[in-house]
Amino acid sequence: MKNPTKKNKTVLVTGASKGIGKVIAQEFCNDGYNVFICARNSELLRNTAEQINATGYLAVDLTQDGVCRQLVDYIIEKAGSLDILVNNAGEYVYSPLEKTLERDIDRLINLNIKVPYLLSQYAVKYMKEKKWGRIINIGSISGIVGEANASLYSMTKSSFTGLTKALGLELAEYNITVNTVNPGWVQTELAEAAVQQSDFSYQEEIDMIPQKRFLQPYEIAKFVKYLSSEDAKGLTAQSVSLCAGLSAG
Ligand SMILES: NC(=O)c1ccc[n+]([C@@H]2O[C@H](COP(=O)([O-])OP(=O)(O)OC[C@H]3O[C@@H](n4cnc5c(N)ncnc54)[C@H](OP(=O)(O)O)[C@@H]3O)[C@@H](O)[C@H]2O)c1
Repeated sequence: MKNPTKKNKTVLVTGASKGIGKVIAQEFCNDGYNVFICARNSELLRNTAEQINATGYLAVDLTQDGVCRQLVDYIIEKAGSLDILVNNAGEYVYSPLEKTLERDIDRLINLNIKVPYLLSQYAVKYMKEKKWGRIINIGSISGIVGEANASLYSMTKSSFTGLTKALGLELAEYNITVNTVNPGWVQTELAEAAVQQSDFSYQEEIDMIPQKRFLQPYEIAKFVKYLSSEDAKGLTAQSVSLCAGLSAG
C-alpha cells in the first residue's frame, strides 16, 4: 500500500477486488495514480489492494444506506481529492420476467443505478472545485441491444445511456467528462456464472460473437485509462460498445 501524493490524480474504482474492476485499478496503479478500491469481501479486497499496490481500500456493501457518502469522505480525507470515478461494481441476474424476484429488482436497481448516481453526486463537488474530472460507467451491451431473460439487468444497464448524456451536458463547462463503456462478454467470474445460468453453452456463446472470443479485462481497462486521459478531453456524453462486434447484429 502506498501513500497518496498531491501531484497524482486520485481514482476510485468500485467493485475492484476481482474481474474487470481489479484490472482497471491495476492499470491506474501501474501509472502512479492514487487508487482507491472497494468491494464487500474484505479478505479478497485486502489481498487485491496489496497485490496491485493501491492507495486505499474500503470493504463495504455499496447498497447500504450512507455507504457511498462514507466512501467518498474516506477518499477525500486520505488523498484530498477525487478526480476519476469508475462506476464498475454491478450485478447480473439471469431470470425470465415472470420469475424475477422483487428483492432482485430492488438490489439491482440499487447497485446498478442508484449507487453510480449517488457516487457521481458526491464526487462531482470535488471535481468542480478543481475544474477537472472524469466519470466512467461500466454498462453492458445488454443495455443497448437487450438480452432475453435478463430484462432486469438490461433495464438497469440501459440507465447509463441517459445518465451519461445528461451529466455530460451538465458538467461540460467544468471540464468534467462523463462516458459509459458497454462491454460484451468479458472473461470474468460474472461471465462464467452468467453462461452457466443461460440456455447456451460457452461454445454457443462464442459462436454468436463476430470475433469468436470473449474480451479480456485488460481491453476494458486500457480504454477506461484512455477516457481518463487529457487526450480524451473532447470525448464526453458518449456510450461506447467494446464488445468484439456482438452489438452490431
Ligand atoms: N464480465 C462480463 O462479461 C461483463 C459484460 C458486460 C458488463 N459487465 C459489467 O462489468 C462490471 C464488472 O463485472 P465483472 O465481470 O468484473 O464482475 P465480477 O467479477 O462479479 O466482479 C464484481 C465486483 O464488484 C464487487 N461488488 C459486487 N456487488 C457489490 C456491492 N454490493 N458492493 C460493493 N462491491 C460489490 C465484487 O466484490 P464482492 O462480491 O466482494 O462485493 C467484485 O469486486 C459489472 O458492472 C458488470 O455488469 C461485465
